[in-house]
Amino acid sequence: MRLMETARTMREEMNQPLIAISMGGYGFASRIAGECFGSDVTFGAVGNTSAPGQLPVSELRKLLMAVHLRKKIVLIGFMGCGKTTLGKTLAYGTGSPLCDTDQMIESAEGITISQIFAEKGEAYFRERERAVLRELGEQEGMMIVSTGGGLPMNEANHEPLKALGLVVFLEVSKEMVLERLKGDTTRPLLSGGHPEKRVEELLKVRTPVYEKAADIKIVTG
Ligand code: S3P
Repeated sequence: MRLMETARTMREEMNQPLIAISMGGYGFASRIAGECFGSDVTFGAVGNTSAPGQLPVSELRKLLMAVHLRKKIVLIGFMGCGKTTLGKTLAYGTGSPLCDTDQMIESAEGITISQIFAEKGEAYFRERERAVLRELGEQEGMMIVSTGGGLPMNEANHEPLKALGLVVFLEVSKEMVLERLKGDTTRPLLSGGHPEKRVEELLKVRTPVYEKAADIKIVTG
């Protein structure tokens, strides 16, 4: 976000062509939303990517198309893959609202996800996710949708997800998940001890399902 703000300021102050892109797992956000802040050029990789944050040109094209046509961009992936962080950056960059399915459920229920799991059970939570997906399907206009990590595990949710807009799977390694979620107490599925084993098991089962649900995949760490 800081890069985009800086690009906008520079653009206003110097009447010069400008390129603003950033590297790293979250860098791709600047590559698709940078133009909104004055970047004249973006880059996609033809053949192998050579730096983190780069996107293959075919995927970059799909993302740019979604932004230009003001379609919804739906982020899916494992806990800690960066859906919320990237969602905020993309929403800021594209000037569209961010809808987070977990937050929608929490505010409708008036309690946290952990409390919903403890008091009403996981099956109830999954039913709420389906209802939220239906609700989002009725909303007009561009938005960035950040989904709970388990939402695509119900394959009945794949069609409504795709009907929303461009579904982007953010892929993350076990190591990065463990690092990002160290000390986190808000994910009931990882709170039962042996988080490393649990993350490994869940990633193994979930990765192919995320791939099936998605239109494109981006590695975030
Ligand atoms: C879950 C992921 C969480 C939240 C709930 C269940 C999952 O969302 O929906 O704790 O099954 O992976 P995040 O992916 O935003 O952490």
